[in-house]
Amino acid sequence: MALFGKKETAIDMTRLPRHIAIIMDGNGRWAKAKGLPRPAGHAAGAETFRTIATYCREVGIKYLTVYAFSTENWKRPLEEVSAIMGLLKKYLMEAIADMEKEKVRFVFFGDLSPLPEELRTLCEETQARSARYGQCQVNICLNYGGRDELVRAAKAFAADCARGKRRPEELSETLFSSYLWSHGVPDPDLVIRPGGEERISNFLLWQSAYAEYYFTDVNWPDFGREDLRKAIAAYQSRGRRFGGI
Ligand code: FPP
Repeated sequence: MALFGKKETAIDMTRLPRHIAIIMDGNGRWAKAKGLPRPAGHAAGAETFRTIATYCREVGIKYLTVYAFSTENWKRPLEEVSAIMGLLKKYLMEAIADMEKEKVRFVFFGDLSPLPEELRTLCEETQARSARYGQCQVNICLNYGGRDELVRAAKAFAADCARGKRRPEELSETLFSSYLWSHGVPDPDLVIRPGGEERISNFLLWQSAYAEYYFTDVNWPDFGREDLRKAIAAYQSRGRRFGGI
């Protein structure tokens, strides 16, 4: 299909990644470059999220995980934190309205307890109400940190041992995984970071052990379907060996 006179990047629809995870970065720089306040970048980023989530559902990506707010993002100015929380609320309200027809399951990774009460309730209700859907699952990392997730899992396992529910010798990678926010979700195959930085920033540390990474200079608000196809094509061109030969 033509794309502004150029050819679309071809992807093999029979070898799509099952799970794509995205660090939605570059919103602030996108806004700055346009002389706009940073929250305007997040608003544009929320629109991009919709576009990309819709595309993933349409092509048949089973799991999409996005990093919406990290345990470190509380350090940002109150105005920016409030703007992000407001966008999440607005987006989730719209998502609930669409859920019936799109049949998307939403799951939140992260400790929701410090969030504004209205948002927390909305997240919990969205997760509970969409639990019956399974065609496509969108995981939203909110007040999420990879190290925090690992420490919480270790504490929960230790607590289960202390009350006799588990024994330390039982611990395996599979059992440990069941204590993570992501329990039941296959590991990401492809982790995408737009925005030009090439680091993990405490995202899915355990789960991305064998993920393929894709970095691009495109800022998240400008990231479109063609950018996603390029990322998928790059993923499909790599040989995944999982430690084998
Ligand atoms: C990183 O860009 C982005 C964030 C910390 C927030 C992402 C949040 C959204 C896109 C809003 C809503 C989300 C959903 C799921 C609807 P940055 O601010 O670090 O950008 P910079 O590195 O250019 O400053």
